[in-house]
Amino acid sequence: MSVLQRSSRLIWLLGGVVCLVLTGLLSLWLSWTSSSLAQPQEKGGAGDKTSPSGDLYSFVGAESCGGSACHGNSAPRTKLRIGQNEFYIWSQKDRHAKAYEVLTNADSKRIAQNLRIDKPEAAHRCLVCHALDVEEGRQGKNFDITEGVSCEACHGPAEQWLGPHIRKDWDAKRAATYGMSNTKDLGFRADKCLGCHLGVGQDVVDHELIGAGHPRLKFELDNYSHVMPAHWQPPKDKPARDWLGVKTWAVSQAVALRNQLQLFGANRKSKMGLFPDFIHFDCFACHHDVVDRLGTLTDEEKKLQRWRSKEYGGKPGRLVWNASSYAVLRHIVQQVSPEQGKTLDQQVRAFHEIVTGKRSSDGFEGALKGLIELSDQLVVKVGQHAFTQQNALALMRAIAADGRTFSHLGFQSAEQAVLALASLYDAYTDAVGALPEDKAVKQAIDALYKDVKDGRQFNPAQFEADLAKVRNAVAGAAGAS
Ligand code: HEC
Ligand code: HEC
Ligand code: HEC
Ligand code: HEC
Repeated sequence: MSVLQRSSRLIWLLGGVVCLVLTGLLSLWLSWTSSSLAQPQEKGGAGDKTSPSGDLYSFVGAESCGGSACHGNSAPRTKLRIGQNEFYIWSQKDRHAKAYEVLTNADSKRIAQNLRIDKPEAAHRCLVCHALDVEEGRQGKNFDITEGVSCEACHGPAEQWLGPHIRKDWDAKRAATYGMSNTKDLGFRADKCLGCHLGVGQDVVDHELIGAGHPRLKFELDNYSHVMPAHWQPPKDKPARDWLGVKTWAVSQAVALRNQLQLFGANRKSKMGLFPDFIHFDCFACHHDVVDRLGTLTDEEKKLQRWRSKEYGGKPGRLVWNASSYAVLRHIVQQVSPEQGKTLDQQVRAFHEIVTGKRSSDGFEGALKGLIELSDQLVVKVGQHAFTQQNALALMRAIAADGRTFSHLGFQSAEQAVLALASLYDAYTDAVGALPEDKAVKQAIDALYKDVKDGRQFNPAQFEADLAKVRNAVAGAAGAS
């Protein structure tokens, strides 16, 4: 839609200035409509006030967006791009609006008790992801922490843009200057979501938190974007819409690898004990029964404590680095940029060997830095790639044919393979229509979802068999070599 239509409708709607009066921002807004767009107001202290992150601005709270003239309608008001029902969708359907409330439930109480935290709903350790946990100086008049993960957690602090963002001449460049986030930028968006769905710096769901009862974090942007009740419209234009899901998935894989490695680095520098946090490893490298996976041992042998017999992909008896954000990214990069694909494989191999003690740990910092730089380049490269029907099919095939590798890399990698196939399948069906053997593919993907539902029950052989069904079913589809 054009910004013109939106802002003129808002001006027309001024009869019911509900949201603006509510927030006491009417005068600010009027000054914006009468003056030309000036620079955002200076906020105390040094710092780059044109920074897109709006690092200095305050948060005005979700209620400020929820008026009926703003984003608070219970149904889309128009056929325009912005339905103005975003607040309603978020507050009624979106789990983010309940993220603070969760901290007061019995699960949270138990987690907190295990961690010797008094009140989870007042602890930074929890609030940092379950609410908009910003310092007091940046809390506007209507700021309310109990709103949970509210609009500004994703869209940036609205102090400066709440008034002007409905103007005719509002554009992406202005938005950045005023501290509004560019959620259309997939690299930025993935980074934003992963900030809470993976963690950043010291704000993580580490093994201690998991041990205390917190769910293990898992994420993939395209699937999670589908689960999150959408308060936005897909692009109207078919070429812009087609394969957007594939790109969303692909870019977020590169961002996930970069961020996961950054966490590994930050975590090693910071803390506790001899070992890096266990979240950097495949959970089930440790959390499995010591059993005879090949089923070749006799009871007699078991009594002699020959517990285990298994075919190893890597070196037996070692920790396995959690390579889940590399496992499918590898296939993407092989298509998008084959040379970088080779480099990625080599660097990951070297890194893995250092982590697992096969190579000297002296090289750790260098290897980590190199991989972070490479994955950062890949975010851009993958984001620039024009994905096609051929790409999508080729990726489905490559991933479906790689079952052995996924199960060797561990459960979390298998999980990402399933999310990848779901994302590719959805994008294909949306853009092209049913695959030739659509029913078989869909059934196999549904079976794969079941295979990765519970890590403790994960059965690599079953997973590989179901993946092979996808491989066979897409083999006949035209469009890829
Ligand atoms: C790094 C960010 C992060 C931190 C820190 C964090 N959480 Fe969470 N938490 C999440 C995310 C993301 C989810 C949702 C996971 C999903 O469904 O994929 C979640 C889910 C939960 C759930 C399950 C919610 C449900 O609806 O079933 C509980 C309970 C919970 N967190 C409590 C806590 C408590 C208590 C703390 C502090 C001790 C805490 N969290 C710290 C990110 C975090
Ligand atoms: C968890 C993150 C998150 C939260 C919370 C959130 N949004 Fe969004 N919002 C997004 C993302 C991501 C998009 C972009 C989707 C796209 O462009 O495809 C978006 C898109 C939008 C759009 C459409 C923008 C456009 O140009 O198409 C509006 C309007 C919007 N959000 C308003 C709100 C309001 C109002 C709230 C609070 C009531 C809110 N959002 C809460 C993530 C979030
Ligand atoms: C400020 C932290 C934060 C950010 C940013 C964030 N989330 Fe979340 N998200 C959470 C927490 C915490 C929960 C769990 C809430 C609950 O269970 O009540 C959650 C839950 C979810 C869920 C529900 C999961 C389930 O199991 O049903 C989805 C889907 C989701 N987030 C997607 C996203 C996407 C997509 C983005 C980025 C556009 C994003 N989130 C950004 C913190 C965040
Ligand atoms: C290096 C080995 C190792 C890795 C990797 C590891 N854990 Fe653990 N985990 C442990 C140990 C040791 C304990 C403590 C057991 C105890 O207290 O009896 C533990 C405890 C736990 C607990 C507390 C409940 C229990 O059974 O004691 C949970 C839950 C848990 N881990 C989940 C995970 C998840 C999820 C991952 C992956 C993100 C993971 N672990 C990775 C070794 C590991």
